[in-house]
Amino acid sequence: MKVLIAYTTRYGTTEKVVGLAKRLFEDRGHNVEVRRVEDDPSPAGYDLVILGAPVYRDGPHWNLMEWVERHKGELEDVPKAFFLVAMHLAGSVFMGKLHGGIAYAQPLVDAFEVPPFYGTLIGGEIDPEKLSDEDRRKMRRFYAVLGEKLEKKSLFSEKDVDAFVRRTLLYYDWFGKHFKRGEVEKAKNFDFMEKVRELERTLG
Ligand SMILES: Cc1cc2nc3c(=O)[nH]c(=O)nc-3n(C[C@H](O)[C@H](O)[C@H](O)COP(=O)(O)O)c2cc1C
Repeated sequence: MKVLIAYTTRYGTTEKVVGLAKRLFEDRGHNVEVRRVEDDPSPAGYDLVILGAPVYRDGPHWNLMEWVERHKGELEDVPKAFFLVAMHLAGSVFMGKLHGGIAYAQPLVDAFEVPPFYGTLIGGEIDPEKLSDEDRRKMRRFYAVLGEKLEKKSLFSEKDVDAFVRRTLLYYDWFGKHFKRGEVEKAKNFDFMEKVRELERTLG
């Protein structure tokens, strides 16, 4: 099938994820086009659109969100999945509110009537020496809140990207194509976890 990977990056980790994901989709016989959202690609005419962005300031990078906003009409009609590259993967609860982890993806889920059928977080990388002064200050504060020091670290794992691609393809046939505009009510009453268990049993 024809796949578009639309992404943004500031320091290159998301680009690394995109390159690997492209290869993994191609290894499985798919035709992949990779485009930066800053070049404003059209999502029309693809069988699957993958949205990829790093998390900055507690959410998906705003360049991706702006692109989604601009192309919402077309994106509603295309099966879509996403990955977000982040450092605070586990997430936490502060004073009854969810922070970090998959909660970072909420704006991306809320942006659509027909939400992405699958999405996950991929471990990011941080190298204080490569950051701009302003970004270094922000990241120092970010790690202070988590009770950690800002230092070079990598949570990136090829296995996570492989799992993302495998699961996206596994769920695509069923979830990706099943729920269309105007049918979202049907999705609300559906036992997704039972279907996931059934699909995963086919993996053996
Ligand atoms: C200014 C700044 C803010 C960030 N904010 C967050 C954040 O809120 N949550 C998080 O998990 N990671 C945060 N990160 C970490 C990035 O998501 C991580 O470094 C990622 O690998 C960057 O991807 P990129 O190289 O594609 O730009 C931040 C990084 C920077 C430099």
